[in-house]
Amino acid sequence: MSPISSSTVADWMEPAEEHASEVRKLSTLLEASQALSVTLDLEAGLQRVLEILGRHHGAVRSTVVLMNDQTGEVELQASAGAIQPGQRVRYALGEGITGQVVQSGKPIVVPRVSREPKFLSRAAARPELARQELSYISAPISLEDRTVGAVGIDLHFKPNRDYHRTVKFLGVVGSMIAQAVRVHRLIQADRQKLVDENTHLRRELKERYDFSNLVGTSGAMRQVYEQVAQVARTSTTVLLRGESGTGKELIAHALHYNSSRAKKPFIKVSCAALPQDLIESELFGYEKGAFTGAHGSKKGRFEIADGGTLFLDEIGDLNLATQVKLLRVLQERAFERLGGTQTVHVDLRLVTATNKDLEKAIAAGEFREDLYYRLNVFAIYVAPLRDRKTDILLLADHFLEKFSREHGKNIRRISTPAIDMLMAYHWPGNVRELANAIERAVVVCDANAVHAHHLPPTLQTAEASDTSMRLTLRETLEAVEKDALQDALKSARGNRAKAARLVGTTERIFNYKVRKYEIDWRRFRS
Ligand SMILES: Nc1ncnc2c1ncn2[C@@H]1O[C@H](COP(=O)(O)OP(=O)(O)OP(=O)(O)O)[C@@H](O)[C@H]1O
Ligand SMILES: [Mg+2]
Repeated sequence: MSPISSSTVADWMEPAEEHASEVRKLSTLLEASQALSVTLDLEAGLQRVLEILGRHHGAVRSTVVLMNDQTGEVELQASAGAIQPGQRVRYALGEGITGQVVQSGKPIVVPRVSREPKFLSRAAARPELARQELSYISAPISLEDRTVGAVGIDLHFKPNRDYHRTVKFLGVVGSMIAQAVRVHRLIQADRQKLVDENTHLRRELKERYDFSNLVGTSGAMRQVYEQVAQVARTSTTVLLRGESGTGKELIAHALHYNSSRAKKPFIKVSCAALPQDLIESELFGYEKGAFTGAHGSKKGRFEIADGGTLFLDEIGDLNLATQVKLLRVLQERAFERLGGTQTVHVDLRLVTATNKDLEKAIAAGEFREDLYYRLNVFAIYVAPLRDRKTDILLLADHFLEKFSREHGKNIRRISTPAIDMLMAYHWPGNVRELANAIERAVVVCDANAVHAHHLPPTLQTAEASDTSMRLTLRETLEAVEKDALQDALKSARGNRAKAARLVGTTERIFNYKVRKYEIDWRRFRS
């Protein structure tokens, strides 16, 4: 549809002035409705409407104001011939003529502006207009029984003007604007909803899927992050190795939540916690009557984890008979429930973990070598905490913040002597032990900093002996140095000359230190 100009419409009307004026009004409304419907930008649409009013109806000035629900004020949204660009104009509800129209929802006509003391002319910026007599007409913009704004025009004063008609006409313009405002607000609300949803989803994603709950920046931990990133998206079987408390379970979670299986179940079975005769029914499920007490049938963890990740913890503790069954499942991706004949097929990613020396267990005949190869497709080794001393402080701070929050305390820092003790200790229980030590400190701490005496007695002994402290400081520095060398080698992909430059030393010294710390630099070549 193209805009119909007043002249085209007028062609088939009688030339009487009254008719001409009606036609002009109709065509204005048509143009205005088009101006509002072609754009999603409300302000631009309103601006066009006001320009049309100026062109066809000799409006000297015109304005649209809308209520701002947040501030309770009436704000100028668009104007023609009225204000300087960028100027902000506001009225309190009920203030001035415009404010009154919005408050009452009724149009107001001021035949002679010069005689109206309430006329604020806040939107006026043309002093030359002050010398002319103007009439002002303002009509409400109403949405569902509520006045949300007003549209106002200034016309040259004419003694015999039919204000009644002009008010009616402006009222129709007002209701058209109201529809545009309604659509605009619906779109805004939808958009806001989308934005909110998006923010919420992203926050949830971040909490669940990234590695931010894994703390540590040591070379060893960075290697872990890299390996997790490499393998997470695949369905490769992963074996997590490392001492107790190093964070294997946390890494198993990271693997799951960074995989395409994230929305499917993550099922953990601890092979050590279950009595050996129970583990098979737990893993594979059973049919009714499979054994005394099997009154019904039950799905095993393998079936429950279908589509997701099955995490078998303490795999090194699995008995030999069950190892055979597990091997078959891994080979065929199928099994039968205990006492059942139907073959169940599952699609899952298997992650296993152990703190045992599996190679030793194989040699001792306690662990099947064929199963070992099936599990050890992609191994991630988590270094003990004492071998990544640079993580101790970060982890300690992380747990301090966490437990302070949980216990409602305001403990901000760890004193230097306490830090020294944390660094000196050998952490046989690794991160779990560190977390427990910090939680204990938070509970007993009555100050805003953790002091040495807040730490558990096991840590105190190191400090008591002077020589051990001196040795420990050196050890600490050495650990940091070793870490830095390994980092450099990693960045330089095993190129020792390049790695030496990265840490700002000579190749000779670098090689000397690599030998001293028994770093296998070939490992970093790729
Ligand atoms: N890098 C880390 N960042 C933050 N928290 C960690 C980290 N590593 C371990 N933790 C925390 O330490 C505790 C022990 O970790 P986790 O249970 O994953 O260890 P594990 O290797 O599975 O130990 P185990 O062999 O005894 O089962 C958990 O509370 C875990 O949240
Ligand atoms: Mg564990």
